[in-house]
Amino acid sequence: MREGLLRSARKAMKNAYAPYSKFRVGAAILTASGETFVGCNVENASYGMTNCAERTAIFAAVAQLGPKIEIRAVAVTNDHGVPCSPCGACRQVIYEFGPDAMVFFQGKNGPKQAHITDLLPEGFRLQ
Ligand code: THU
Repeated sequence: MREGLLRSARKAMKNAYAPYSKFRVGAAILTASGETFVGCNVENASYGMTNCAERTAIFAAVAQLGPKIEIRAVAVTNDHGVPCSPCGACRQVIYEFGPDAMVFFQGKNGPKQAHITDLLPEGFRLQ
């Protein structure tokens, strides 16, 4: 499952729009219904408008399946082969739809996996 998700993330990474950072990121999420959705980072000349790969994938899943999606796992890759765990904003968005999600990413010493609540202790919830 991990390898399949990482492969999907690597493929999506090729579609990244990253002319400013030149740092391409790909993400793939697996939903409880067994479907995979992918995303890439989409940058903007107004830098703050950039959307990370993880959120692109999650928003695509919601757009396709609706608001009840549950994320089981997330994989993230980058084209520099450097450590790249989801940023803080993406951790909160993963948590919203996947409070029990596993996250696969590149760590300092190779591939890593971590539960979302280890990456984001005390995640914010309204319901
Ligand atoms: N980026 C992601 O897509 N996901 C992450 O988890 C970290 C950062 C993107 C945003 C920006 O386009 C580029 O990486 C450099 O920060």
